[in-house]
Amino acid sequence: MALLIRGGEIVTVDSRVRADIYVENETITRIGKNLDAPPNTEIIDAAGKLVFPGFIDPHVHIYLPFMATFAKDTHETGSIAALIGGTTTYIEMCCPNRNDDALAGYELWKSKAAGKSACDYAFHMSVTKFVKETESQLRQIVADGTASFKIFLAYKNFFGVDDGEMYQTLELAKRLGVITTAHCENAELVARLQQKLLAEGKIGPEWHEPSRPESVEAEGTGRFATFLENTGATGYVVHLSCEKALRAAMDAKSRGVKVHVESVLPHFLLDKSYAERPGVEGMKHVMSPPLRAKQNQDALWKALAGGSIDTVGTDHCPFDTEQKLLGKDSFVNIPNGIPGIEDRVNLLYTHGVKRGRLELDRFVDAASTRAAKLFGLFPRKGTIAVGSDADLVIFDTNYRGVVSVKSQHVNNNYNGFEGMEIEGRPSVVIVRGKVQVRDGNFVGERGRGKLLKREPTHF
Ligand code: URP
Ligand code: ZN
Ligand code: ZN
Repeated sequence: MALLIRGGEIVTVDSRVRADIYVENETITRIGKNLDAPPNTEIIDAAGKLVFPGFIDPHVHIYLPFMATFAKDTHETGSIAALIGGTTTYIEMCCPNRNDDALAGYELWKSKAAGKSACDYAFHMSVTKFVKETESQLRQIVADGTASFKIFLAYKNFFGVDDGEMYQTLELAKRLGVITTAHCENAELVARLQQKLLAEGKIGPEWHEPSRPESVEAEGTGRFATFLENTGATGYVVHLSCEKALRAAMDAKSRGVKVHVESVLPHFLLDKSYAERPGVEGMKHVMSPPLRAKQNQDALWKALAGGSIDTVGTDHCPFDTEQKLLGKDSFVNIPNGIPGIEDRVNLLYTHGVKRGRLELDRFVDAASTRAAKLFGLFPRKGTIAVGSDADLVIFDTNYRGVVSVKSQHVNNNYNGFEGMEIEGRPSVVIVRGKVQVRDGNFVGERGRGKLLKREPTHF
């Protein structure tokens, strides 16, 4: 059925205009004032609301075997939570570990999502070792439409690559025109500091941050950038958490290195005092890189407003309190991760736009458009234009609410942002021309999400 979204204020990176949007099948076919609607068109009244392009979360974990357990969401639960929060596309980290075969891992991750996700999705393909068959396998994966890689400089002996493997991955990525995303922490220093702290009897979650201090992240960020500089590849630092690491990335950028930066919701809104709470309360807020000293948040918000931080993702990674307690005797065993897929857009709008830290166009850019451009999805996704997929978020700026585990759809028994106020939320969420969410309820079709095929664009 055709849709007419009538009278909303359409907000993209380039413009803000009150107009109607006409959607046929899965695509936007007309934008203009007072559009006529043929008889059986469904009309959605958007008067008084903002209409955004569907939001894109460039960094999520749905299926994730990690730290002796599995992240809690499935694509059924994760995609519905994403949609209710206004995210119409997510990019999941496909994470086979060093003992796994990369291609078999890729097929496994695809099988977990196919027919299950209610929103559209893509993958970043993790390269967790570089052996004889790696190049041909990665070529197959790129030919299949997965045009971005992921490397971990942390998680020694599990996901982590050494410098030689990083070089080989980036050199191949350059030849293939693929962007490489990277978790930047020095694995050796993390391992040494963890052992030192444990030997001193420091076992609680408050020691997680001291085991991975800012300098350890800044070193990883600078090293990744140096490898980009010397291979000519394009890179994207994921979940950058602190000013020191930001400086390392910006220094490289000023030398002409093609490096982009993502920060994630927890690092803008939560600080290390959350992980210093006693017992499981602290464990709920353990992720890597860790939550930092609060003064870093100012630097992150400023860099986001100015565009030095390109995107805001979530690093959505839900482990429940029982799983977190795997680390009750040692912080190194606390499963790392904080969920946020459902709350990213509302909290970023509230704490960014409403608090005067972020212009509306930059909000749209950071939460949607920039990721579409970097990851080969633009202009199909990330904007509102004739010919683009009809992924639309009709946003009610008058809504007032509070983030809570009691109302969330993420499959977890806590919410790391519990109690935070939101000023605005999506009232209607449309994916490829189909209404999937109304007023905080999923009303759409499960399993309708498509794996998005992407071409390399970073030559
Ligand atoms: O703590 C985190 N970030 N967990 C997920 C894995 C990763 O490093 O992204
Ligand atoms: Zn990471
Ligand atoms: Zn992650």
